[in-house]
Amino acid sequence: MKEWTREEKYRVLGDPEEIRDLHENIQKSNYRQIFHVQPVTGLLNDPNGFVYHNGEWHLFYQWCPWGAVHGLKYWYHVVSKDLIKWENLGVCIRPDTEYDNKGAYSGSALPTGDALYLYYTGNHRDRNWLRTPYTLVVALKDNGEPEKILPPLFGPEAGYTEHQRDPKIIFNEENQTYYIIIGAQTYDKHGCILVYRSKDPLEGWEFAGQLKVPGFEDFGSMWECPSIERISGKDILIFCPQHLKLDGRGDSIHHNGYILGRMDFDTLTFHPDGSFHVLDFGFDSYAAECAAQKLMNKNAAVLVAWMGLPDAAYPVTDEEEWSGCLTLPRELTIRGRRLIQKPLESLKKLRGEAVDPAKHRLPRECEMEVICGNEAGVGDAAGADSLVDRLTLDVSRDNLMLSLFTKPDGSGGLHLTFEARAGVIEVDRSDLTNRFNTQYGEVRSRPLEAGLRHLRIFIDSSSVEIFVNDGDAVFTSRVFPTEEEHGFALEGRAEVKIWTLEKAVRDDFVV
Ligand code: FRU
Repeated sequence: MKEWTREEKYRVLGDPEEIRDLHENIQKSNYRQIFHVQPVTGLLNDPNGFVYHNGEWHLFYQWCPWGAVHGLKYWYHVVSKDLIKWENLGVCIRPDTEYDNKGAYSGSALPTGDALYLYYTGNHRDRNWLRTPYTLVVALKDNGEPEKILPPLFGPEAGYTEHQRDPKIIFNEENQTYYIIIGAQTYDKHGCILVYRSKDPLEGWEFAGQLKVPGFEDFGSMWECPSIERISGKDILIFCPQHLKLDGRGDSIHHNGYILGRMDFDTLTFHPDGSFHVLDFGFDSYAAECAAQKLMNKNAAVLVAWMGLPDAAYPVTDEEEWSGCLTLPRELTIRGRRLIQKPLESLKKLRGEAVDPAKHRLPRECEMEVICGNEAGVGDAAGADSLVDRLTLDVSRDNLMLSLFTKPDGSGGLHLTFEARAGVIEVDRSDLTNRFNTQYGEVRSRPLEAGLRHLRIFIDSSSVEIFVNDGDAVFTSRVFPTEEEHGFALEGRAEVKIWTLEKAVRDDFVV
């Protein structure tokens, strides 16, 4: 694996031509995705500034142009009309001032009448490599021109370590006040959130205090990418607690999850109603970003995440000098005390031909639907909503084992197992040829109180997203199947449908 010097990692991108060859090379990769946002070159990590503005969905991602390395970060901009087809618009925020000289780190967006305001962390480092984080704004005008507003809104807060970043802008209608929340770390290495407030989105910001989250005072060493969203009338605190082990998560130490509850801006307290839930039970998902907005009087809440993890390597594509992609956007609702994440209804537009499941072959990019147990063979499974209504009345308690990406002799693959007696679904990727991040464990699991009824699985060239029981749980993972790993095997009572999927992202060289 390539060893990067600091100079190479933090090189400033001048002429886009400097990376054209890199782009042309990675386009030859067998693992380029066809319906997921992926980097034009180099490394993609967190999604940023996800928002609906002037008739389009805007989404940005953390981007290091040079290769599969966390070096100098830019904000790269993509847009979509339908959240399915995405277009590359190129770099939006450049780390080109003293305040962000070593990176334009993650943040969020505020749509206003005359511009989209983008709030982000300027990662400043001095000659001795000491870090000072700043909170900055860029006004993205409707003519597409980004204008950096200087000086920064504020610098770091005394009393906390250098880890203060990832501003999320929130407007609280009740007191007509803007808030920015920032992920931070106390000196005794506990993750926390800092809150700032102002009546004006561009000036007058003051530190309001540390957010109180009763019961979560000792929960991970740093909270990255925090946000508070209002979904189906409930508040939800989303964040990434680091250096923490959780049940069912193997040896993984980075998680992205949420707590349902009630946000009280007067007392700066988030009152939890229940425990911390993992957002995605798979191997590769982090730094989720939501667009939860009123659109034409309807509440839309959509989530995307980085299909990757900090401190993880993806050797197959790392060697090809690129890394990372975003998850499919997921529609959010709340059922009981859980967040439900469903694939968008409009994704069905990407379906191409129906493939005969009896052949036990997976097209390289496809969607698979599995209707389990008692329901197999009953009626039309395409209308998932009505299907699930029927299924809740008739719970299946059958075992199931589905292996994806098996070899021609049926061996190997990524195994999804539901063991009915234990009531647990498990995903195991240890039987694939290309194994990676094995130090964090190769099995992930989740209890399913009401049995396994239904699966919708989206397979792109190098990823798999498994939606369980109509959005009750999601398992997202990168996978790098070899040429011969494109079969599947199924044990248990189930009906399977498969469709090829059309291309939805254009791999254009726009910088
Ligand atoms: C999370 C994160 C953020 C930071 C960004 C830098 O993956 O570490 O906290 O702003 O990535 O790229």
